[in-house]
Amino acid sequence: MEFPKDFVWGASISAHQTEGNNTNSDWWKWESENKVQHLIDRSGIACDFYNRYSEDLDLCCKANLKAIRLSIEWARIEPRQGMFDTRAIDHYKKVLQAAKEKGLKTFVTLHHFTNPLWFSEIGGWTNLKAPLLFSNYAKKCAETLNDYVDFFITINEPKIYSSMAYLHGVWPPCKKSLLLATWVQIIMAKSHNLAYKKIKSVVGKPVGIVKNISWYEYSSFTPLDKVIAKIHFFLKGALFLNPVAKYSDFIGLNYYFTNRIVKFRIKNPDSPVNDLGWWINYEGLYNVLLSLKKYDLPIFITENGIADSADKYRAGFIKKMLSQVHLAILRGVKVRGYFYWSLLDNYEWHHGFAPKFGLVYVDREHNLKRIPRKSFYVYAEICKNGVVG
Ligand code: FCB
Repeated sequence: MEFPKDFVWGASISAHQTEGNNTNSDWWKWESENKVQHLIDRSGIACDFYNRYSEDLDLCCKANLKAIRLSIEWARIEPRQGMFDTRAIDHYKKVLQAAKEKGLKTFVTLHHFTNPLWFSEIGGWTNLKAPLLFSNYAKKCAETLNDYVDFFITINEPKIYSSMAYLHGVWPPCKKSLLLATWVQIIMAKSHNLAYKKIKSVVGKPVGIVKNISWYEYSSFTPLDKVIAKIHFFLKGALFLNPVAKYSDFIGLNYYFTNRIVKFRIKNPDSPVNDLGWWINYEGLYNVLLSLKKYDLPIFITENGIADSADKYRAGFIKKMLSQVHLAILRGVKVRGYFYWSLLDNYEWHHGFAPKFGLVYVDREHNLKRIPRKSFYVYAEICKNGVVG
């Protein structure tokens, strides 16, 4: 399978999960309070990407990547409301400039789950002023970092964030309210749209959103399962995408798994699953991609990956997922790139450091030494030739 010549091959990371010492954020505070049983590790130094970015960008080159997706930490850029930290901005300039010098395109996410403390203290994404506050920060990033950014991404996975933080009570601020979770999604949609307009008012780069969309299958047991699957799929995807699509130059899709509805509930097969128990289903990616065709926007798969500590399945996983991407391209879906999650093993939120998504193993016992896994070299071959065999 040959991919288009200009197809963007990449890998993704995010700030809080890799940089280390993100002390001014709501996540850091929550981790340090350590009141919740389900929290396994604290992020601490994470992968120390903050200091080791150059080495990690070299790894991207070694993997023949054409692009890196990373995130900017709002808590660092704007440590107090309205006060922008020029040293933090300079740091990100250095990181992004290094990426450009190494020949990588940069996909820069402005919000990847973590918030500045001051923002969370005034209600975070429930506050009616959130769109204004977030878009001020987004505009600042555009003004100062534009020279080194190829693609701006406003918000990562608004639905996952609002559900984990406001519905399931798993992430800070640990609320359990359908009303709040719905409200947060509305505010995030407004925030995206306003940030889009403000970024566009100062720079001409493409601006998009990143959505996690799972496919929903159904058993043939009852026709109602089909209806339930369709409702789920709408609520998790189009409900958010419809109002933001016209303020997006591209769609970023994060795809990890499919859910199967059996007798009105989600009941997934026990295998194949990744180390976190997520059911692996390749056709789901194809189905989701096809469903996005109606927006007629370029699509980047901004995350797709597997927690696989033994690195037994990763190479095959990537190839099989890519064959679905190839099929979707043949069917006219404008898929322009694929980013594996993740370049490095990192801090997997409330799961801590246990899940290993990385193409590169990070040895936490030996000074965070980076050791590329076998699958790293398989992916490197694919990225080099643009061919999946
Ligand atoms: C996604 C997140 C990313 C990582 C992967 C495994 O939902 O965007 O930060 O946690 O899942």
